[in-house]
Amino acid sequence: MPASVVLGAQWGDEGKGKAIDQLANHSTWTVRFQGGNNAGHTIVLGDTTLKLHQIPSGVSHEHCNLVLGDGMVIDPWVLEEELDKWHALTGERPEGKRLFISERASIILPFHKLYDGADRVVGTTGRGIGPTYRDRTERVGIRFADLRGMVDDTEAIRSQAERMSKQLSTVGVSEGIEASELQSDLRWILERYSDAIRPTGLMVDLALRNGERVLLEGAQGAMLDIDQGTYPFVTSSVTSRANATHGAGIHPGHVDQCFGITKAYTTRVGNGPFPSELPLDEGSGMHMAQVGNEYGTTTGRPRRTGWLDMVALRESNRINGYTGLVVTKLDVLGGLDELRICIGYEMDGRTLHVMPTTSEDLARCSPIYETHPGFPAMPQEDWIAMAEDSRSEGTGFDAFPKVIRDYLVRIEQLAGVSIVSVGVGPDRRASVASKGGPFDLPADEATF
Ligand code: GDP
Ligand code: IMO
Ligand code: MG
Repeated sequence: MPASVVLGAQWGDEGKGKAIDQLANHSTWTVRFQGGNNAGHTIVLGDTTLKLHQIPSGVSHEHCNLVLGDGMVIDPWVLEEELDKWHALTGERPEGKRLFISERASIILPFHKLYDGADRVVGTTGRGIGPTYRDRTERVGIRFADLRGMVDDTEAIRSQAERMSKQLSTVGVSEGIEASELQSDLRWILERYSDAIRPTGLMVDLALRNGERVLLEGAQGAMLDIDQGTYPFVTSSVTSRANATHGAGIHPGHVDQCFGITKAYTTRVGNGPFPSELPLDEGSGMHMAQVGNEYGTTTGRPRRTGWLDMVALRESNRINGYTGLVVTKLDVLGGLDELRICIGYEMDGRTLHVMPTTSEDLARCSPIYETHPGFPAMPQEDWIAMAEDSRSEGTGFDAFPKVIRDYLVRIEQLAGVSIVSVGVGPDRRASVASKGGPFDLPADEATF
């Protein structure tokens, strides 16, 4: 069976973790292909909430193998914390058994975090992501495959430590990197993960050739893509469908489904232009932030909120060619008198239907809205009951009142993509799937 790609269609935090968890019941592999622990993917299973940064979101399904793929940058210390938390929760130690780390993935070291901490422009997560990718592009980074040859090479380690210390001094960080500490860090990483470090591209390729279903789990979102996003206010990796297979070590011909995950509104963490942004301290923007609990999963920073931006979503579809849209957090809009959708921008008296290329121009755009009637707020139990009834009765989106159906149909028209699932709460059960669509699957309980 082929591979399915799940991508953020906006500026991240769209609900990718929940979508992967829902699909993972029917897949045997989940592969992260880019990014690192700048990601925070949430899965809510009844009373248990998992916040995953590097462990792929198929983890709650015992049959699902987990890969931290070639295109990732990985913080070994954060991964250890995540694995310990998982062990405390379930008693399982998946590393080396069903969780594998690509030999080709790059290692995030203390140097990268210190360097990233000096960022004052982009508003990064400070997790060392950009500096680790920069080292990789400069061909001086350390990959998991390099550890075995390097741990005893005192000269190579000394020269790495010297380079790192010099670079830190250029951004005003006085702390240096000691060669002896770097050496013991690298030794620890090799010992801790030696069972899990594998040629994961070969493993995933073999699984596909054996007829297994593979999920490729995106991190961040289309508008944070290094090439296609709102540069320079972006992350350092290619977040798109084109990189999903490449970063997993397989070829693009394997993919038959690509889902774009979008909130029913928009959020953004960190700096950069956001044309449909609303004030956070009043009205609909405050409603979205409070009801949607819009705080970054990784850094806890408040997320900026705004109306759904169809210009951005169309750009994101141009890059990724979604075969289906997953609209999340529809429930959060309940209780607003009216809903708005940004259908274009105005810049210097001109109407734009595509995003300008520079962030400076995008910052000068004001949104052009169309307005739709709102719908009442409902308690979570009622949304879950609606979702479960829709599943058991096979009604799909007919479970929704007309005002919601009209809003969804309008999004489909503007995006040119069908909606395959609508999120009505954080819980894994709180989604209404399109009838007979790719998310219309039996929702078994998690195996842990
Ligand atoms: P990701 O990074 O794309 O996986 O998204 P995050 O986990 O960072 O942020 C999404 C947040 O929204 C999490 O707290 C989820 O539990 C929550 N969430 C996901 N889908 C829904 C939904 O349909 N409704 C509500 N109310 N919350 C949702
Ligand atoms: P998930 O996978 C939302 C943002 C940061 C910053 C910019 C660059 O949970 O959707 P970086 O640390 O990557 O160099 O920061 O990108 N950012 C995210 N925003 N969700 C994410 O991940 C993000 N990962 C990075 O806030 O603006
Ligand atoms: Mg997130």
